[in-house]
Amino acid sequence: MANENDPQSGTVRVWDRFVRVFHWALVAAFIAAYFLSEDETLTLHTWAGYTVATLVLARIVWGLIGPRYARFTDFVYRPSEALTYLKNLFLFRADRYLGHSPAGGLMVVALLVSLLLTTFSGMAYYGTRSETDGIATFVSRDVIGLEPVPPALYKGEMRDRGNHDVKELHETFVNITIILIFAHIAGVVLASLAHRENLVRSMITGGKRR
Ligand code: HEM
Ligand code: HEM
Repeated sequence: MANENDPQSGTVRVWDRFVRVFHWALVAAFIAAYFLSEDETLTLHTWAGYTVATLVLARIVWGLIGPRYARFTDFVYRPSEALTYLKNLFLFRADRYLGHSPAGGLMVVALLVSLLLTTFSGMAYYGTRSETDGIATFVSRDVIGLEPVPPALYKGEMRDRGNHDVKELHETFVNITIILIFAHIAGVVLASLAHRENLVRSMITGGKRR
């Protein structure tokens, strides 16, 4: 196989192994959490959610200490640059970037923040159920200071346990994340067409043409 960084091969290794494993593990854990959010699969749901939270926290650390293209300093631009990039992307005349584009970088930050809010609101809600213990109760009761709902106030259904307002908040963050994900995928498709390259393949192999 040609060396990815060999000037002769015309390919540069942009996404390191951590970023690629992080990305596809995140996609799998997010989909699992989303589709396992029923009463019967609640334990699996929380573990998929904890996996998402762990991956995102690890990615934030990697964004500070990782290699060049993984670092926040490489892909956090001014919002005005992201807007200019987006405008030009729709006109199919945007500059091509080896790492994340200004709009792509902004989306990465938005996704990470939204995923943190989704997972932490999930823990905050889960911890307001009296029977819950572990990480969720620590986050909910000790860090945020929420009171658990006493079993006497349960309305029978599993779904009605816990603090309803916090549950609504969790659902709102889930929906905001879903909207961002659809915009993210649309952005990947549009940028792939505009720059005539397969960005999904790059997130698998790590390589991009020079
Ligand atoms: C199957 C659907 C998906 C595809 C095809 C896809 C594809 C991609 C591609 C190609 C990139 C690199 C973009 C670039 O070149 O600038 C990327 C980055 C990213 N995607 Fe996705 N994505 C998908 C779903 C998701 C989901 C569901 C999430 C969140 C739960 C997500 C979160 C991210 C994040 C955080 C990055 C930044 C990667 C990094 O720098 O660490 N993606 N995605
Ligand atoms: C990115 C990760 C997550 C996603 C995508 C997600 C998504 C969802 C969805 C779609 C629901 C269903 C809401 C409804 O019934 O209408 C839900 C409910 C819930 N989530 Fe999450 N969630 C995530 C993380 C977490 C975490 C980390 C926890 C706690 C450890 C958690 C705890 C809960 C609980 C307790 C419910 C209520 C389920 C029920 O009443 O049966 N979630 N979540």
